[in-house]
Amino acid sequence: MRKLLLSNLLILICIFSAKISVASTDPGKVLAEKKCASCHRFVGEAKSRFDIKAPDLMWGGNKYQVSWLKNFLQGNEQPLYLKNYRWDQTRKPQKHLVISKAEAHSIANYFSKSLMDSRVKKGALDLSLFTQMEATLGEQIFKEHSCSACHQINDDGKLVGGQQSTSFVNAGKRYNVDWVYRFNSHPPDYAPHSGEFVADVSQEGLRFVTGYIMTLGVDDFKFYEPWKDKFFKSTSAKRGKQTYKEYCSQCHGATGKGDGPAASSLKPKPAIHANIAFDKEPEDYLYNIVFYGGKAVGKSPFMPYWGLTLKPQGVADVIAYMKKTFKGPSLQAKSEQVAKDSDQPGLCPQLRKTPQAPGDIINVKNPLESNKKNIRKGKLYFTQKAKPLACKHCHGLKGDGKGAKAFNMIPPPRNFTCASTMNNITDGQMFWVIKNGSPNTEMQAYKNMKDKQIWQMILYIRELL
Ligand code: HEC
Ligand code: HEC
Ligand code: HEC
Ligand code: HEC
Repeated sequence: MRKLLLSNLLILICIFSAKISVASTDPGKVLAEKKCASCHRFVGEAKSRFDIKAPDLMWGGNKYQVSWLKNFLQGNEQPLYLKNYRWDQTRKPQKHLVISKAEAHSIANYFSKSLMDSRVKKGALDLSLFTQMEATLGEQIFKEHSCSACHQINDDGKLVGGQQSTSFVNAGKRYNVDWVYRFNSHPPDYAPHSGEFVADVSQEGLRFVTGYIMTLGVDDFKFYEPWKDKFFKSTSAKRGKQTYKEYCSQCHGATGKGDGPAASSLKPKPAIHANIAFDKEPEDYLYNIVFYGGKAVGKSPFMPYWGLTLKPQGVADVIAYMKKTFKGPSLQAKSEQVAKDSDQPGLCPQLRKTPQAPGDIINVKNPLESNKKNIRKGKLYFTQKAKPLACKHCHGLKGDGKGAKAFNMIPPPRNFTCASTMNNITDGQMFWVIKNGSPNTEMQAYKNMKDKQIWQMILYIRELL
């Protein structure tokens, strides 16, 4: 009996020591100690960039995507610190050590097994629920909270931004989202006294800007589209009716006439829902304006963002209620509203009171060549992709100014098929109006669209004559 116990114990000891020896002979770890530890640290607390030789790798397993890490170690990635890691220039920039494919695999394996950081919560930011509007809001934060002052990005083909910290070109292919989110929540936890910056951004804003960084360089990023999700089909107009009463009627009025108690002192006035045919409105537009608010879609910030209050299901319900209730103006109301003949959509020539672009812009010629590719792109934006609302909904699919939203609009949308009106409108004028909107009309500013996209749409508009 004693003998048996003893031999069992011996076996146990053997297993135990075998385990220990496996850990200490992790070939990746041995390699890292030999080849990397002279510059990088693999244990310890975060330290100032001025007291270390190279970025800390204690959290390397959380931080990098394995495919990027392997490529980087084999010398196949762009340098990350364009002005040198030690931007005080106390160390000369060096080409990074290159190792073989087998070694890179072994090190990447060691990273993901052993260099994990318990502060990073797995799934803290679920990219499969990240919307395009959130990326746009994240981009705004990135630009407005100085991020681009220190981190370079590729903005529509142009490299922009400061260069002394890590480049974010293709960042979406380099980082793991949960690490970036944790880093952004409090940068000094990872890079103290290193020139890092703590931004005054809400928890929600941090999610937006982190998600935005994760889209950089990922051309086929799959954005979440809530209006195509299951819950959007199981809406309740009854619940939506209650929501409308509790939240929307204070401005839009109990029957959607835009006459709620808050309305009288607002300019622009809350939309008159009773005059809108909601089932003709694009789903993404409705969702975005209710969830993210007027400002996010280029309209007035007097229209609040309801996402945090109502949650996606609540937004879906109130949209279902509006679709069921508001069908657009009755024929009689229509003819009363559009009193003057000159306000009919699609007339040619068209009465035009649009303000003129400033002198230096009005005569700017379209810098793009009118070729098939540019026109095709312009058409795509005009008919589908322009955010927050594709142009066709007002200007019409053929550009004749008779889109689904055009009726009841004073002044009506421009009729791009009308030569006698369009011949007097220069490229620069169109560019200025698309970028800034036409005040006190339904033509809103497309501030988030890139210059190039606007010029492509103008080429397409010229084709509509
Ligand atoms: C001679 C010093 C030195 C050695 C040796 C070295 N590195 Fe580096 N490493 C640097 C410096 C400096 C940077 C930052 C500048 C750059 O990106 O080139 C860096 C960057 C990195 C990065 C990207 C860090 C970031 O910004 O997120 C990783 C990952 C990395 N090294 C891993 C390794 C591994 C693994 C080894 C060993 C196989 C190794 N390095 C060996 C100096 C070194
Ligand atoms: C004044 C310059 C500055 C500004 C502004 C700035 N950063 Fe940084 N950022 C740094 C420095 C310095 C580091 C540390 C890099 C290092 O030492 O390796 C850093 C690191 C990061 C990292 C980790 C990168 C890595 O590979 O380790 C992320 C993510 C980041 N910043 C996001 C942001 C965001 C988001 C903003 C805007 C809200 C921002 N930064 C604004 C200087 C700046
Ligand atoms: C504090 C006042 C206020 C409240 C409360 C409010 N809105 Fe609005 N809403 C506005 C204003 C102002 C506009 C017009 C914005 C503009 O034209 O720039 C607007 C516009 C809209 C539009 C755009 C209509 C169009 O013409 O495209 C929709 C849809 C909308 N609101 C839905 C809602 C819903 C749903 C609620 C309740 C959950 C709500 N609003 C609550 C002020 C409000
Ligand atoms: C919600 C309706 C609506 C949408 C969506 C819309 N427009 Fe307009 N647009 C108008 C109205 C209304 C006018 C007339 C404004 C005026 O008379 O000043 C107008 C006028 C214009 C003009 C004429 C400017 C001038 O100087 O005469 C251009 C160009 C134009 N829009 C381009 C676009 C493009 C491109 C898009 C899509 C990116 C777009 N619009 C989306 C309603 C809209």
